[in-house]
Amino acid sequence: MFATQQDHHFDVASIRKDFPILARQIGDKPLVYLDNAASSQMPVQVMDAFAQYHSGYHSNVHRGVHTLSQEATDAFEKVRFKVQRFIGARSEREIVYTSGATDSINLIAQAYGRTFLEKGDEILISNMEHHANIVPWHMLAKEKNLVIRVIPITDEGTLDMDAFDRMLSKNTKVVAVNHVSNALGTINPIAEISRKAHAVGAITVIDGAQAVPHMNVNVSEADCDFYVFSAHKMMGPTGTGVLYGKIEHLEAMPPYRGGGDMILSVSFDTGITYNEVPQKFEAGTPGIAQVIMMGKAIDYMLDIGRDKIQLYENELLEYATNRMRQIDGIRIIGTAPQKASVLSFVLDGIHPHDIGTILDFHGVAVRSGHHCAQPVMERYGIPATTRASFAFYNTRDEVDALVKAIHEVKEVLG
Ligand code: ALA
Repeated sequence: MFATQQDHHFDVASIRKDFPILARQIGDKPLVYLDNAASSQMPVQVMDAFAQYHSGYHSNVHRGVHTLSQEATDAFEKVRFKVQRFIGARSEREIVYTSGATDSINLIAQAYGRTFLEKGDEILISNMEHHANIVPWHMLAKEKNLVIRVIPITDEGTLDMDAFDRMLSKNTKVVAVNHVSNALGTINPIAEISRKAHAVGAITVIDGAQAVPHMNVNVSEADCDFYVFSAHKMMGPTGTGVLYGKIEHLEAMPPYRGGGDMILSVSFDTGITYNEVPQKFEAGTPGIAQVIMMGKAIDYMLDIGRDKIQLYENELLEYATNRMRQIDGIRIIGTAPQKASVLSFVLDGIHPHDIGTILDFHGVAVRSGHHCAQPVMERYGIPATTRASFAFYNTRDEVDALVKAIHEVKEVLG
């Protein structure tokens, strides 16, 4: 087991005790889990919510008058308020449950995009998007003859805001960018992007999957039109996430999927009327337990304090960056001044997959590959990177273990 630093800000040793998986071994080595951008680990408080729900009040939501259904519905709907406050939305009606960030973006592209975009309209995305914020727009563009334009990025991995300014025009209808890049760690200026997009009459779609676990997010202050994220990257379960949308957009959009719970009435004679927002977008039985667990994950992060999380992670990232820079032959991909959680790198002459495999022998879990962001790799002329990504339960000792293991990689393959 690794020793952990402990100071008056942040008791990482006791936080780690909440995450049973962090105590496991990989072979004879302690696990060093640095693949949090792919999926973060879960504290017992969140796991317990699953058992409590199933042993205490499992039932379907919005459908029964019996006690269990009412308890399940209450717990499920309370999370909506929690999410609202967590991201600074104006109303809980602006919170739609989805299966995750990818599902949320597809919902926007299909429900908003198919309705409001017309031939020749432009969608601006950035060169640092995850495929989830590229492919749904590509599919829509093919269908509706829209134009996708790509905002370039600088060598250090920041958005080229001058180019963005030049690309904006009255044809721009959607600006879709991430808040934090999963491949580079760059934090993008979403308030400035929204302000500029609105000035030409465009809306913004912000992929917040890599931001929400690491920093304070306020969608109202940033004035974004849509904001999406996934529970499994913020200590919650897989298969659940959120679409935030300004109420006027959600009300104007048609439903995306049809089924139970998203209707008020269905008649072969008089037709179908849809439910109110947000239920209009929540067809079928949702991930009830998963939403309740997402609520617990939010409680968990709020109990620690998001400012404290951000401060601690920033220090850890800075420590890791400084240590990694001292390794001969390493190139860090993504050196923006404002970064969160992610350290992507390449090593001279060694393929990232080989790095990832040897790091695993040392118990160190990182992701190697294109990180579902192939255009970023193209931009830097590389096939892949190795990516260490941090959460608030990681420690400096774990960074040291990563650095030591990279030296072993170099000895074996360098
Ligand atoms: N989007 C996840 C990642 O960056 C899967 O690894």
